Amino acid sequence: MKIGKLLIHKNKSLKSLHTFGCEVSSKFFLELNTLEEIRECAKHIKEIPQPVYFLGGGANSLFIKNFSGTVIHVYNKGVELIEENDKEVFLRVQAGEDWDDFVRFCVQKEYYGLENLAAIPGQVGAAPIQNIGAYGVEVKDYIHEVHYVDLIEGKSCVLGNSDCNFGYRDSIFKQEMRGQFIITGVTFRLLKNGKLKTEYGTIKQELNNQGIVAPTIAQLSDTIRKIRASKLPDPKEVGNGGSFFKNPIVTMSRFEELKKQYPEIVAYKNGDKMKIAAGWMIDHLKWKGREYKGAAVHTQQALVLINKNNASGKDIVELSQMIQEDVQKHFGISLETEVQFC
Ligand code: EPU
Repeated sequence: MKIGKLLIHKNKSLKSLHTFGCEVSSKFFLELNTLEEIRECAKHIKEIPQPVYFLGGGANSLFIKNFSGTVIHVYNKGVELIEENDKEVFLRVQAGEDWDDFVRFCVQKEYYGLENLAAIPGQVGAAPIQNIGAYGVEVKDYIHEVHYVDLIEGKSCVLGNSDCNFGYRDSIFKQEMRGQFIITGVTFRLLKNGKLKTEYGTIKQELNNQGIVAPTIAQLSDTIRKIRASKLPDPKEVGNGGSFFKNPIVTMSRFEELKKQYPEIVAYKNGDKMKIAAGWMIDHLKWKGREYKGAAVHTQQALVLINKNNASGKDIVELSQMIQEDVQKHFGISLETEVQFC
């Protein structure tokens, strides 16, 4: 079927297009490979069978059933150095670039900033939407601008960092602007002589084990890769979407109460509140390794749900609901999902 200059496919399997790898299909499917195609899509958005879902690397999307509308896969490529001075570089990266390929490129060029965000599955265009973060770094600290096409006005627009309302796994793109844009690219501001961040978790210990005292950017990034590989399943081997839940943020007084009841609870300061390690709570309730139909809780990191044996999206959601109920019952905390259901 053709709409404008766009070719729309029918009954497309999404199995290889999302990292949970569930057997689902989309009634209609459209791939956008260039900026021109993205603009054409924005122009005709009302004629495209609804609902529409924009898919990047599919690293955070769980399809609960066959999708009845149009899945639109954004796949535009390119990395361009747009400005440079003694201290910093500005790189304009198209939304369809693979996130980890881009991190490897920056590490190899010794552009500092994103090295702790190595090995995160997904595409560059998705990074600002949920402000991806890991090992003491959030991508918002290195985003200069986000470029998008506004689906209401059909215009190309740019948002500066401070207008993106970045928060913990959150941004304006998940809130007020939800469903109204296609991200076309991101401009990053990276440093030529940055300070490496080695404070989080076991980074220092892992560097010590390798006899590294003053790591290079490449050594630090490789160490992060090692730590991730020891805890997080590779989606190429077993379907998963990284952390299934967000770490809940509670008031200091609520945290003090919990601490009395569970002295070993793991939490981090978050402004004047506390961010509790949801993985610790789920682990404490003995969910690690537990299976439900084809789904399971990962044995190394309780925050990650896996497609162990041909699970459907529904199996995974049901398992996640049992976990949410258990956490609510024991800790009085409602866990929010980080993964997007579609
Ligand atoms: N913990 C346990 N048992 C578990 C998991 C965690 O006891 O099964 C405790 C441990 O004490 C551990 C602490 O919780 O030290 C924190 O665990 P970890 O360092 O693995 O981090 P996290 O809070 O569980 C967050 C991000 C991850 C990111 C890591 C590392 C969220 C929702 N998740 O997980 O992001 O890789 O920190 O920075 O914020 C993702 O978003 O998909 C993702 C993987």
